[in-house]
Amino acid sequence: MGQCPFYPRPHKSKAGLIATFLFKRRSWLDGLYERSYKMKVGRVKMPGFDLCVVNDPKEVKRIMVDDVKEFPKSDMLHELLEPLLGVSIFTTNGEVWKKQRELLRPSFEMTRISKVFDLMSDAAADMMSKFRAYKDGSVVEVDEHMTFVTADVIFRTIMSEKLDEEKGKEILNAFVTFQEETAKTAIRRFFCIPNWLSMILGENKRMKAGEVIRKTLSNIIRPRYKNFSSDNHQDILASLLHTVDATTNQRFGFEEILDQVGMLFLAGHETTASSLTWTLYCLSLDQDAQKKAYQEIISICPNDKFTIQNIKDMRYLTNVFKEALRLYPPVGFFARQTAKDIVIRDKTLKKGSGIVVAPWLIHRHDEYWENPHEFRPERHNESISKEKYMPFGLGERVCIGQGFAMQEAIIMLANILREFKLELQDGFVPDVVGRLTIRSANGMMIKMTRRK
Ligand code: HEM
Repeated sequence: MGQCPFYPRPHKSKAGLIATFLFKRRSWLDGLYERSYKMKVGRVKMPGFDLCVVNDPKEVKRIMVDDVKEFPKSDMLHELLEPLLGVSIFTTNGEVWKKQRELLRPSFEMTRISKVFDLMSDAAADMMSKFRAYKDGSVVEVDEHMTFVTADVIFRTIMSEKLDEEKGKEILNAFVTFQEETAKTAIRRFFCIPNWLSMILGENKRMKAGEVIRKTLSNIIRPRYKNFSSDNHQDILASLLHTVDATTNQRFGFEEILDQVGMLFLAGHETTASSLTWTLYCLSLDQDAQKKAYQEIISICPNDKFTIQNIKDMRYLTNVFKEALRLYPPVGFFARQTAKDIVIRDKTLKKGSGIVVAPWLIHRHDEYWENPHEFRPERHNESISKEKYMPFGLGERVCIGQGFAMQEAIIMLANILREFKLELQDGFVPDVVGRLTIRSANGMMIKMTRRK
């Protein structure tokens, strides 16, 4: 077993409000304290917000599965993501959400597994050429590569466009700004800072970053939207362009398509990039697990291009990936709100209160896991209850791209591990931050040595 993967050590006790406002704005993980990892339900009261953190599996099931109507997605999350995502499936509720999910479902079925396998493999091949171009034994900042390749996969599968380096840099940098500023804006909302002051304090940077991303996507979508009748692509955008609403008989409008594509770009690349980087980190720390994964890969496919069946057969590597998703769930918390006055265990919550279900906490809760902070892929040999392990969410809002992401991740990992031995740079410790997703603020420095 390797060294225990790093996580920000919790404070002994709750931080005061002023300290929270001043120091915890860069990452919500910095606001956690020891009891956060042991409690079943906790309450965080802020001037502008009453928030309940729920770790109890029974209550989690109630919120996410049994009584979903009483716990819709949070208005604040919608407002925070709107500059980038507009009115998209990730944050809508009720009939609007239902219609959007119904409209996206066929796209995901169509592109599922076999149809996008070759496109994912092409993106993996480009990524491998970049790794091969480094001098053997170089320390490489792999997070940057994972972010690029996952964005490239989304471009190729949704819009049939390869992501070029320049466009990639512009859009990904804007995305980092959007994430950083959104985390700070959320804290300002909790403290009732007025919007005009929030704009001066950095919110306008967030708006601009959202515009940069939307403009790049819009430049690709607009010509295809105008000429949709002659559009003969086989991608997700094509199916959005051709879908007709059963009740109104209308096509999606341009802005509506842009919202959905922006959302798929966010939900589809950022999460997968985060999960890949953390998997490479865990494997660099645990050389035994890495060796096992390597041996599995070469016993299944020593040299040739991987096939879909090869990828499906990699059981151990899949368990490695699942375990990294447990320790570093890319979506570290789910934000909901109460639709009416509600009691959760011993806490009475008013209508409109915030609810947080945090896989980050539940996946590391010491009552549900043995040695919760250790990396042990073997845990996944047995099935684990959905209320204790939920990297893709649960209930009706479960991730629509789960199959897509699992396939993509195993393709990328199998390609990298077959060719390179990974070791963490001496003394490197990741700076784990919780923003929209769980990322390492100082990247991931890994020494890559070619396997002979
Ligand atoms: C490792 C990668 C991924 C992880 C860990 C992940 C995780 C999640 C989670 C936890 C949710 C539910 C959030 C909540 O309940 O508040 C979600 C929703 C969603 N994800 Fe993923 N996701 C991943 C990859 C993808 C990909 C590749 C796509 C699409 C290309 C995608 C599209 C979506 C969409 C559209 C939703 C909203 C579904 C709805 O509300 O109906 N995700 N994802």
